[in-house]
Amino acid sequence: MIVFTPTIRYVAATGRKRILLNRHQHSARRGLIVSGPAGTGKTTAITQLGKHYEQLGRRRGEIQPKALPVVYVTVPPAATPKMLAIEFARFIGLLPSRYSQVEVTNKACDLLCTLGCRLVLIDELHNLDIGTRVGAEASDQIKYLSERIPATFVLAGVDVEGTGLFAGRRGGQIASRYSLIPTSAFRHKTADQRSSWQSLVATLEESLRLHAHRTGTLLKLSAYLHDRTGGMIGSLSHLVREAALDAILDGSERITKASLERVDLDESAEQQNLPRARRRRSRNEDHPDAGAAADATARPGRDHRFLPEPARRRQPPDHRAPLVADRPVATAPP
Ligand SMILES: Nc1ncnc2c1ncn2[C@@H]1O[C@H](COP(=O)(O)OP(=O)(O)OP(=O)(O)O)[C@@H](O)[C@H]1O
Ligand SMILES: [Mg+2]
Repeated sequence: MIVFTPTIRYVAATGRKRILLNRHQHSARRGLIVSGPAGTGKTTAITQLGKHYEQLGRRRGEIQPKALPVVYVTVPPAATPKMLAIEFARFIGLLPSRYSQVEVTNKACDLLCTLGCRLVLIDELHNLDIGTRVGAEASDQIKYLSERIPATFVLAGVDVEGTGLFAGRRGGQIASRYSLIPTSAFRHKTADQRSSWQSLVATLEESLRLHAHRTGTLLKLSAYLHDRTGGMIGSLSHLVREAALDAILDGSERITKASLERVDLDESAEQQNLPRARRRRSRNEDHPDAGAAADATARPGRDHRFLPEPARRRQPPDHRAPLVADRPVATAPP
């Protein structure tokens, strides 16, 4: 279930306005870059934008039945310009491997123009290493594609503003055409921030279909849940879904603090609160069910140099707005 967080709503509203503004623009179309720490809902936000844009357009008959209004591709690691063009071609269903870079690019662009593509979503932008020649060429390729395809480009990646994407002559052009939408972990300091987090927890709890679960249990644990997950929506979603799965498998059909404690989270969430994670893990090892399972899941000593940087806490757009579960976005049509 997707919760309509302030970030999702902001990306949806801004994205739709960009599509409208770009509609009659022949060049220098304006785009968006969604950037923030891992697991803060970037992919979800841009794919929801694509989904709702297409659904609304089809419902209103503004999109032809055979059109392909939205394209979603991810930047492969160490992407070259040809690899990027191949990703577009694959999405359309072309088998491009025997073509040259120029041919694949031309075929993909021509077909996307014919199919009425209006929104291009490019994810995992941090895979572009602008500091290398290949990375810089791939970023030029994105610019070239955005000139050839009359669509709004929405890019997303982990903290991309720190990758040099906006630096130098190349970066200057990107900076002048794209607006940055930051994503971040939910905070839990002020009353407004706590209320926003509680709305998220309550919406997730309402989506549970456990026979013996008492609604309100998770809401009461919202401070604990924030502590466990560092306010990361991805970690919260994982924690609640895994605890729900455990409740179904063990037949208890309810989530409690003890069952949440037994869920192992991703490293970046656990790193937010190392002493608690250690205490929790040692308690889990004492748990009667832990025995063989603990042996099976035991991990060798971790080298923390390889762990991601702790999340930078930036305020996403208006966290105070109430949250709504998976509902079409009511914004002006293009
Ligand atoms: N609005 C939301 N409602 C419910 N679940 C969400 C929402 N946003 C994100 N999630 C969940 O959080 C997890 C991470 O989300 P997502 O993949 O969008 O984050 P990301 O910022 O793109 O992560 P990464 O940086 O690793 O690519 C997913 O499992 C997703 O289901
Ligand atoms: Mg993602």
